[in-house]
Amino acid sequence: MSQSPGARDATFDALTEAELGNRYVESRALYERASRVIPGGIHLSGKPLVDVATTPMYFARAKGARIWDVDGNEYIDYLMAFGAIFLGYAREEVERAAFEQAGRGHLLSLNHPLHVDFIEALLPLFPGAEMGIFLRTGSEATTAALRVARKFTGRRRVARCGYHGWHDWCLPLETFVPEGLAGQVPEFNANDPATLEAVLRAYPGEVAAVILAPEMVLPHEPAVFRRLADLTRRAGALFIMDEVKTGLRIAPNSVSERVQVVPDLLTISKALGNGWPVAAVLGRSEVLQVAAGMHYSATFHGDTAAMAAALATLSLIRSLDVQAHVFRLGQALIDVLNALARELSLPAHAFGEPLPPMPFFRFIDPDPVRNAALTRCFFREVLARGVLLHPRHLWFLSAAHTDEDIARTLEAARQAMKVAATVR
Ligand SMILES: Cc1ncc(COP(=O)(O)O)c(C=O)c1O
Repeated sequence: MSQSPGARDATFDALTEAELGNRYVESRALYERASRVIPGGIHLSGKPLVDVATTPMYFARAKGARIWDVDGNEYIDYLMAFGAIFLGYAREEVERAAFEQAGRGHLLSLNHPLHVDFIEALLPLFPGAEMGIFLRTGSEATTAALRVARKFTGRRRVARCGYHGWHDWCLPLETFVPEGLAGQVPEFNANDPATLEAVLRAYPGEVAAVILAPEMVLPHEPAVFRRLADLTRRAGALFIMDEVKTGLRIAPNSVSERVQVVPDLLTISKALGNGWPVAAVLGRSEVLQVAAGMHYSATFHGDTAAMAAALATLSLIRSLDVQAHVFRLGQALIDVLNALARELSLPAHAFGEPLPPMPFFRFIDPDPVRNAALTRCFFREVLARGVLLHPRHLWFLSAAHTDEDIARTLEAARQAMKVAATVR
């Protein structure tokens, strides 16, 4: 039977393990089946929110800001497919545009007019964007941006800060990463520009580009971005803003514009297609020109259903003023979560990571054992009250979230915090 969000709001008693286990029977059965045919049962992004027994693992459908697990439990979702759903699940105008395009044959031989329409629609939205190339995922966009930067500068090394995708060059050093690659891609800490200076000093004339995921800069100080861009350019390297997560989510469309840094290249993906796989690298034409004839091509890059979805998404972001909406709701969530934690004397902190449309809440008890127990308790309880909050990944607001959703979420969070307050 379907349970609506807030169904357990009459009590703040902790749920028993058995009660929790009974909510997720189908999820567990699927996980057992999956463990026989998929290595580890799941992909990394599908890891249990808390654990297999007491949190949902499999979801069957979603609409707007609501998602239903395979056991029929309903949630207000704040993961939104890791930020890919910016307008709400199954947004009609977007799905119609994509399916109509699919009906005309969405992947054709050679070129399609939508390839041009898509890039032309993006250029006016981002600072310094004079040309662009189209791809399918964030990892592809960042990898293509680095390849372009290497060709443009004739240099090989790249300095990076943040998560840029699953490709070899941005993984932590492990046995399955080609030897020597990590040395080619040194890391720096964006909050300490001296670490970038040190990398640039260690490899004079060798660094092709500095790539920064702007959510790494905390707090979000424009001066820090400008300093990092200055250091990069003085070393003759290109400055790449990896706005795969942040792009289009905030006004005016990018952190780059917000902090007034014009990057040489900028990558976008997640919010762009409202769930349809689409990505782009944009930038100065002098730089991107070198991509002509370069190998960044793949069989599915030209898929036009995703581009039609993106064009519909762009138009709705504008007409619904989604950026202002998610900023306001995110800030409301952060403020009340902090007030609740204070009221219940819980060692916890809510914040925009780094901006309100991407909020997060974490426990900060100095005792790691108690901190883990608080985290486990809060997130299990809030899930059981119909709110999908991720304990390890930042959250995302969408156009489909309402003030009413925020109120229900905060009531569920209050109940879950009351249970957490009993954790010793
Ligand atoms: C800043 C950033 N860059 C790149 C990526 C990789 O994108 P994808 O998962 O679509 O390959 C991500 C994904 O979370 C990201 O947040």
